[in-house]
Amino acid sequence: MKDLPSSFNLDPSSFIPDEYDNHIQRKLSNMKGQYLDQQAYAAKLADKDEILYQVYEIKRPEIEGEILHGISIVHPGKVGDEYYMTKGHFHTVLETAEIYYTLQGKGYMVMETPEGNFAVEELRAGRVLYVPPRWAHRSVNVSEDEDLVMFFAYPGNAGHDYGTIETQGFRKLVLDRGNGPEIVDNPRWSPVES
Ligand code: 6PG
Ligand code: NI
Repeated sequence: MKDLPSSFNLDPSSFIPDEYDNHIQRKLSNMKGQYLDQQAYAAKLADKDEILYQVYEIKRPEIEGEILHGISIVHPGKVGDEYYMTKGHFHTVLETAEIYYTLQGKGYMVMETPEGNFAVEELRAGRVLYVPPRWAHRSVNVSEDEDLVMFFAYPGNAGHDYGTIETQGFRKLVLDRGNGPEIVDNPRWSPVES
C-alpha cells in the first residue's frame, strides 16, 4: 500500500482501473434469499452461476481519516421480474456516509435507515449520489443491455453489515412487471426484532 500520493487510470471503455488491490465477483449463488421470486432464483442457478456484479477496490487502511474507493459494475439481467442488484448493506459504523458517481448505465440506489425512512434515487451517467450516514444502500441496474458502472468512496473505518439486510431485506424492490422499472413494496420485508 502506497503512502505517497497516487493516481490510477480508468479505461474509458471498460472502466476497469489499471491498478487495484482487490477484485470481488459476486455470483448468483452469493445472493441466496435476496430475490423475491425464489423459484426463478433456483431455476436460474441450476442453469448457471452467473456473475451479477464486480467490485474493483483500491485498498487503504481501514481507519478513520482514510477513504476507501473503487469501481462497482452491476451487470444487466433479471431474476424473475427483479433486476440484478448488489447485496446491499449498512456500514458497521452507522455514522459513515458514501459518495457514488455514476460513470455509465442507469439504475436506482435503494436506501433505508434503521429508523424506518426509505429513499430511492435514480442513477445515471454523470450524476453524483450522496448516501448520508445511517442509510443502507443497494444499487440496481435497470438497463436491458448495459453495465451500471459507478465510482464509490467512503470512510476507511466504515465496515460492512450485510446481516441486517440478509435477514429483513429492503423495504422497496425494483421490478419489471412488463412496463419497465417499477419501485414496489417488498412483501417479504419485516423489521429485525430489537
Ligand atoms: C461499500 C460500497 C460499494 C459496495 C458495492 C457492492 O461500502 O463497499 O457501498 O463498494 O460494496 O457496490 O455492494 P455490496 O457490498 O452490497 O455487495
Ligand atoms: Ni457502502
